[in-house]
Amino acid sequence: MKKVAVLGSGNGSNFEAIVRYFKDYEIKILCISDKSDSGILKRAERLGIEAEFLPYEENEKFFRSNKFELGVLAGYMRILTPQTLKYCDFVNIHPSLLPAFKGKDAINRAYQYGVKVSGVTVHKVSEELDSGKIIAQYPVFIDDTMNLNDFETKIHETEHLLYPPVIKSILENKLFSFDMILKNDAGGCGSCGGCGH
Ligand code: GRF
Repeated sequence: MKKVAVLGSGNGSNFEAIVRYFKDYEIKILCISDKSDSGILKRAERLGIEAEFLPYEENEKFFRSNKFELGVLAGYMRILTPQTLKYCDFVNIHPSLLPAFKGKDAINRAYQYGVKVSGVTVHKVSEELDSGKIIAQYPVFIDDTMNLNDFETKIHETEHLLYPPVIKSILENKLFSFDMILKNDAGGCGSCGGCGH
């Protein structure tokens, strides 16, 4: 069975979306957090997923001795060291259309800037913050009636829609295709506000 490690420091909503998406698949998910009181660890307990508090300094040793098909960063607030990156392929999700708005507070910064199209990016993790090769992106359109809260909600909905199928395509060694979300069982994404699906 393929093993996937999901690493997060905060709320854990992407982690929960991933767990729900893969519930009928032969995939073992382990939740890892560098914060002992994080929401992601509480969600793991609620969802019955094995979880571990792992201080940042112990990552290298942990990934050297535990093999995963993929490491999935979902709100993990530290930059992984080159040594840790040697032992596993990692992907990350970022709440903007990279390379715009790298780093923290990306949703608010994009909104305050007045951008009319933002979105979500899944990318490979490299040694530099939010800079690895882009795997998939999905847009969120911002019209003038949208307040920051609406925009933030839309971004998170889009993350939850995009990340799980992108992870699936990576695990299956397939290229990600938009059909995976546009032709989903829910009858389309209903997410970006632009394509009418
Ligand atoms: C998401 O917006 C993600 O793009 C960013 O951190 C946030 C994590 O949210 N990297 P959650 O912990 O998954 O709810």
